[in-house]
Amino acid sequence: MRHFLDIDRACAGELKAILAQAAAMKTARRGRPKGTPDDERPLNGRVVALLFEKPSTRTRVSFDMAVRQLGGETLTLSGGETQLGRGESIPDTARVLSRYVDGIVIRTDREDNLLNLADHATVPVINGLTDRTHPCQVMGDVMTYEEHRGPIQGRRVAWFGDGNNVCASFLHAAGQFGFDITLSCPESRDPDLEYIAYAQSRGTTVDIVRDPLKAARGADLVVTDAWLSMHDSDDIRDERRGILGPFQVNASVMAAAADGAVFMHCLPAYRGEEVTADVLDGPASIILDEAENRLHVQKAILRHCFDV
Ligand code: CP
Repeated sequence: MRHFLDIDRACAGELKAILAQAAAMKTARRGRPKGTPDDERPLNGRVVALLFEKPSTRTRVSFDMAVRQLGGETLTLSGGETQLGRGESIPDTARVLSRYVDGIVIRTDREDNLLNLADHATVPVINGLTDRTHPCQVMGDVMTYEEHRGPIQGRRVAWFGDGNNVCASFLHAAGQFGFDITLSCPESRDPDLEYIAYAQSRGTTVDIVRDPLKAARGADLVVTDAWLSMHDSDDIRDERRGILGPFQVNASVMAAAADGAVFMHCLPAYRGEEVTADVLDGPASIILDEAENRLHVQKAILRHCFDV
C-alpha cells in the first residue's frame, strides 16, 4: 500500500513514471466519450472515498472521473455530512473508512489531518490539497509544461504573488524534477523556508526577486494563484490586494519572460487581481490543458498507489 501525500515523499523515478503513464493513458483514450472506461480497468471492483472538507470543482470532479475511467467507483463525502464535522477523531474515521472503501482522497485545511489519516488508514490516502501543499495540482502542472515545451529539467519557473500551498508543491517539484525557480512575492507572503531549503538541498537554484519584471526575465513558465486561499478569511481580501497588487501577472510581466514562455494558473482565477484577463485568456496561457491534465495525472497517481 502506498499513499501519495507530497511530492517530496516519493522518489524522482516514481514521479517521472507517473507522468509517463499519465501521458500514455491520455493518448490511448483520445476521442472517447469521457464516461467510457479505459480498455484496462485496473480499479475494477474498488471504491475510492472522496472526503472533501473544503469546496472544489477541479479536484473533486477530476478524481471522480479518474476513478470511473479506471473502472472503479467513488463515494463523495463532504466534511459537514460525516461525523468528522461533529468531532469524531481522524484516527477513528481512518480506521472505519478503511473497512468500507479501498482508498481515500482527502481535501482538508489542516495538514495534520492528512498525516493523521494516512497514519491510521489501512488503504491508500491521497492529498487532494491541504493548507500546506497541493501535490496533485503540481504533478499536473509539470505534465502540462512538458506536453507543451518538453522536459522541465533545467528550465526556470517564476512564481508570482502569494507563496501558498501550490507554491510549496512547486518547490518540492523543483527539487525532484530539477528545474530552477524564481519567487516574486512580498516578504510577508514568501513560502516557508523549509520548502525553499528542500529545493536547494536537491541542487535547485531558488532566487527571491521582489521586482516582478526582473523576476520574469528568462522564465520559461510563469505561474500565479489566487491571492486568497480557501482557508483564508474574506475579511483580509482588501489587505491582500494591497500587499499583492504589485505582483500581478500582466502583459508587461509576460513580455519580460523568455521567448516561448507559457502561463499557468491552477484556477479558480480572479481576472484583474492576481492576473489580467489578457494573460489568462491569451496565447501563452495553457490553463485549460493544465486543468484537464489533473484527470490524467491523478489516474496515474491512483495506479501508483494501488500498484495496478
Ligand atoms: N485547482 C484546484 O484544486 O481547483 P479546485 O479547488 O476547484 O479543486
